[in-house]
Amino acid sequence: MRVFIAGIDGYLGWPLAQYLTARGHEVAGIDKLLRRRWVEEVGSHSAIPVYAVYERLHAFRERFGTPLTFHEGDLLDYALLCDVLAAFQPDAVVHLAEMPSAPYSMIDQAHAAFTQHNNVIGSLNMLWAMKAVCPQAHLVKLGTMGEYGTPNVDIPEGFFEVEFRGRKDVLPFPRQANSFYHLTKVHDTHNTMFACKTWELRATDIMQGVVFGTQIDEMGDDPRLRSRLDFDQCFGTAINRFCCQAVIEHPLTLYGSGGQKRGFLPMRDSMQCLTLAIESPPEPGEYRVFNQFEECYTVEELALKAQVAAAAVGITVEIQHIDNPRTEQEAHYYNPDRSHLIALGYEPTHDVAAEMRIMINDLKAHRDRILARRDALIPDIRWDGTRRRSQVIGAVLTSVKS
Ligand SMILES: NC(=O)c1ccc[n+]([C@@H]2O[C@H](COP(=O)([O-])OP(=O)(O)OC[C@H]3O[C@@H](n4cnc5c(N)ncnc54)[C@H](O)[C@@H]3O)[C@@H](O)[C@H]2O)c1
Repeated sequence: MRVFIAGIDGYLGWPLAQYLTARGHEVAGIDKLLRRRWVEEVGSHSAIPVYAVYERLHAFRERFGTPLTFHEGDLLDYALLCDVLAAFQPDAVVHLAEMPSAPYSMIDQAHAAFTQHNNVIGSLNMLWAMKAVCPQAHLVKLGTMGEYGTPNVDIPEGFFEVEFRGRKDVLPFPRQANSFYHLTKVHDTHNTMFACKTWELRATDIMQGVVFGTQIDEMGDDPRLRSRLDFDQCFGTAINRFCCQAVIEHPLTLYGSGGQKRGFLPMRDSMQCLTLAIESPPEPGEYRVFNQFEECYTVEELALKAQVAAAAVGITVEIQHIDNPRTEQEAHYYNPDRSHLIALGYEPTHDVAAEMRIMINDLKAHRDRILARRDALIPDIRWDGTRRRSQVIGAVLTSVKS
């Protein structure tokens, strides 16, 4: 199949290009290289070195024996988006090109406005461009499990049957997003559902859990093919951050009680799930929702697993509870469904503990890079709109061994 990846330079886009090409798909993509700039802006860098685009493309051709068509460009440039889609005529479009950080969207008015504009208008442009130039193509749109929030009932895959005042209907399950970033995904969900209903587009909206991991097999041992791995307060997601903290013997910092429960999945399983979705498109006009995660854990359970994984490679780390910068429930019910991907044949490959051991081993080689930007581990972006560094967090920092 011809697969176009928007956001191809990102944490998931770059490995997905390799995973699909290794399976015989023809891949092209677009990226404005914004993620590279955002991480610099928040005072950090990727623990795993990220090579220049031309070096990545060179390595790609060497490894897979075929060039990767890459466009440096912005989804907000509607004419450009139409042109590149028209030239490639994709069978599937995987849309990953959004600003993916909740804390970044909560920094201040400017960052919230940027996030909403970039994500909502970029996705809207994608819908219009597909309608205009490739209406038969299948849109695989990345949403997030965070759209649902943490309701005190089970979470279905997108829709549920409701009975109200004696009448029944199947309706979208309520979205209760908890940041201006997550709210962009809710807007996207409604826009995508509407476009399918109105224009007969076909889409799979993937409510993805938190992805973690440093590698997929297709990368081999070429460092230019590795994906980025961030650990800062904005772009470092829980397991990735814990593994980086472990490598520099920094206490594993839990926000508040650590009872927040979420769904997680390794990068290699995220690739498998996205590929299953691409290879089994819905019918024209169909809008379907997949919840995509492997297992649910509390953040404290994950920290304990990271502590054990670190011990297995001779690293001793403490777990430390710090002031929660977010306004969120720290203890709650959480029971989402995830049967649609399993019905398509999804089989988990690695459990969390095994993947964490691989990550810690990979990251040990980059210990100095993490140490050099360890300040970025400290969360000071608060949901109440103020920004301050707590004394507890400062104490954590000064205790780190360098
Ligand atoms: N990584 C996760 O744990 C996770 C979990 C749930 C959902 N998601 C979603 O999956 C998608 C990909 O996530 P990721 O972790 O790879 O993020 P990422 O930031 O690494 O990748 C997104 C890429 O899109 C590009 N981009 C953003 N806006 C753009 C624009 N207007 N025009 C062109 N390029 C643009 C960025 O430069 C970046 O390379 C995001 O939509 C994210 O919300 C990710």
